[in-house]
Amino acid sequence: MSQPVYPVPAKWAEEALIDNGRYQEMYRASIDDPDAFWRREAKRLDWIKPFTQVKETSFDEADFGIRWFADGTLNLSANCLDRHLAERADTVAILWEPDNPADQERRITYRELHEDVCRFANLLRSRGIGKGDRVTIYLPMVPEAAVAMLACARIGAIHSIVFAGFSPEALAGRIQDCDSRIVLTADEGRRGGKAVPLKANVDVALAHAPGVETVIVLAHTGADVTKVDRRDIDWTSAAGDQSASCEPEEMNAEDPLFILYTSGSTGKPKGVLHTTGGYAVWAAMTHEYVFDYRQGQIYWCAADVGWVTGHTYVVYGPLMNGGTTVMFEGVPNFPDASRFWQVVDKFQVEIFYGAPTALRALMAEGDKWVTRTSRKSLRLLGSVGEPINPEAWEWYYRVVGEGRCPIVDTWWQTETGGAMITPLPGATPLKPGSAAFPMFGVRPLLLDGEGKILEGAAEGSLVIADSWPGQMRSVWGDHERFFQTYFTTYRGYYFSGDGCRRDADGYYWITGRIDDVINVSGHRMGTAEIESALVAHCKVAEAAVVGMPHAVKGQGIYAYVTTNVEVQPDDELKAELIKWVRQEIGPIATPDVIHFTPALPKTRSGKIMRRILRKIAENDTGSLGDTSTLADPQVVDHLLATSPLAE
Ligand code: WTA
Repeated sequence: MSQPVYPVPAKWAEEALIDNGRYQEMYRASIDDPDAFWRREAKRLDWIKPFTQVKETSFDEADFGIRWFADGTLNLSANCLDRHLAERADTVAILWEPDNPADQERRITYRELHEDVCRFANLLRSRGIGKGDRVTIYLPMVPEAAVAMLACARIGAIHSIVFAGFSPEALAGRIQDCDSRIVLTADEGRRGGKAVPLKANVDVALAHAPGVETVIVLAHTGADVTKVDRRDIDWTSAAGDQSASCEPEEMNAEDPLFILYTSGSTGKPKGVLHTTGGYAVWAAMTHEYVFDYRQGQIYWCAADVGWVTGHTYVVYGPLMNGGTTVMFEGVPNFPDASRFWQVVDKFQVEIFYGAPTALRALMAEGDKWVTRTSRKSLRLLGSVGEPINPEAWEWYYRVVGEGRCPIVDTWWQTETGGAMITPLPGATPLKPGSAAFPMFGVRPLLLDGEGKILEGAAEGSLVIADSWPGQMRSVWGDHERFFQTYFTTYRGYYFSGDGCRRDADGYYWITGRIDDVINVSGHRMGTAEIESALVAHCKVAEAAVVGMPHAVKGQGIYAYVTTNVEVQPDDELKAELIKWVRQEIGPIATPDVIHFTPALPKTRSGKIMRRILRKIAENDTGSLGDTSTLADPQVVDHLLATSPLAE
């Protein structure tokens, strides 16, 4: 069956920054002479000391290293704020929409944001925080989250945002891993009409993370929260006492900017480390080209700042480009399933960038929630975080965008800093479900199991052959783990962990993770993390977690659990384990299925046969493959007989 292709609308081809010819030309140039290409692109930033070196990178073990613009200096907060003041001080930088539509929105201009950031940066300095210090941020989606990020960047402190949906245990682990001495939080967050007890969570977390000396607490909901003397200070009054000017720290391009913890296939979450210059160039450039962004346009990326999408496309990208970025505290279905589109109408949003999981959930509610809103302001739609299935793509295109708005389906990762494979709205005919073509400077390859390069139409492991400026530079505190995780599966290449197909027209189709990472509602989770949470429960002997297909979330969490012998595995225990995992990691890790089993299928050498567990979780039990190497093949029969999906 031939796939539909949506040509570039004539108006887009004419008016966009980049049309198809220009894309081809620039892509070639970026590959043929990266130094010249990036020397030019990096001019979009204000450098304090201009760089002379551009690309100094190698993925080979012998001379492994990734450095971009390494002798240049700059400050990212100054690039997001100060340089806009002469001409755009009164332009709205952040348009904030509260969880509850009855509450007041906030419009913060560049002048105001600059002042707030300076005051907060001075406050951080007054608490002894400076260049290289780690600052943990555990805040809801409020403008102060952006203020905190930019204030860190201003003084050269390294921010580490922990998504406000993570539990105290998960927060404590992330505070300790990077030895933060300070945590920024709020009394409470709000999501979908419910309060999230952030400060109380911090108090619990700090019992396990005694190195924290300062907690700055934003009074957001006004809830009554405990105050620890000398440790806890009030955000608004303490920042209010500070001066509204703060000299930005001169940072080297390769000085760290932020850490963001993300799940991998093994062990505890890794602190993905991004540095200043390359990340900034990548964030600003991709934000401009992918969204065809021009100053004055109202742009909304509906991601949380707790994830990389929020870092690059809510805060840094749009602000470097002098844009107006919408920040939304709430959820897509509160008070009802029209909320996204009501906010679009309220602010006259032109560019909307969201996640497939939200779209699928809204699609299930029916078209009327969309069609009762105007959406006339919308010109461009985006998708990120997981593969978008063609049905959801078509719905987004036809119902939300009324067939008028191109969709940019952007493939990227926490590790890549910004969009890597994506259509450009003025250049790329769209195929629903395909992320299309590589961004400038990106050299994707598909490899087979032996590491052989596949040509033409093919399916294999997605690797990137050469460095790009936005690439992560290290795993915090464990540089060896960085090399081992990404550069040893296929020697000399960056391995993404994703599978991918390339069709005869050269379009890339991401097929999903091929390692032990699952993507639940666009949130990355290591199966190993959920397993270790389960086995930490006193009644659990062993656990194996795999992904299962889920109509809304993309993937759900399927946990096989073996209890200790004296324990009765019943529904009560299921509920207890679900609660336990939520408490250990957070609600995003809630198992969808718990399947009790007296044993897990293992090879004679004791290795769990995950392939079989995945098949059962997918309810694809007709082709379990070779089970002859199992120590006890009866285990599989038992699993099949007790599968909750089999009924
Ligand atoms: C998946 C989010 C298909 C992919 C920016 C990747 C996608 C992981 C897409 C990274 C897309 C992200 N199409 N899959 N457009 N975008 N992914 O680190 O599996 O939270 O490896 O970064 O999400 O998730 P992360």
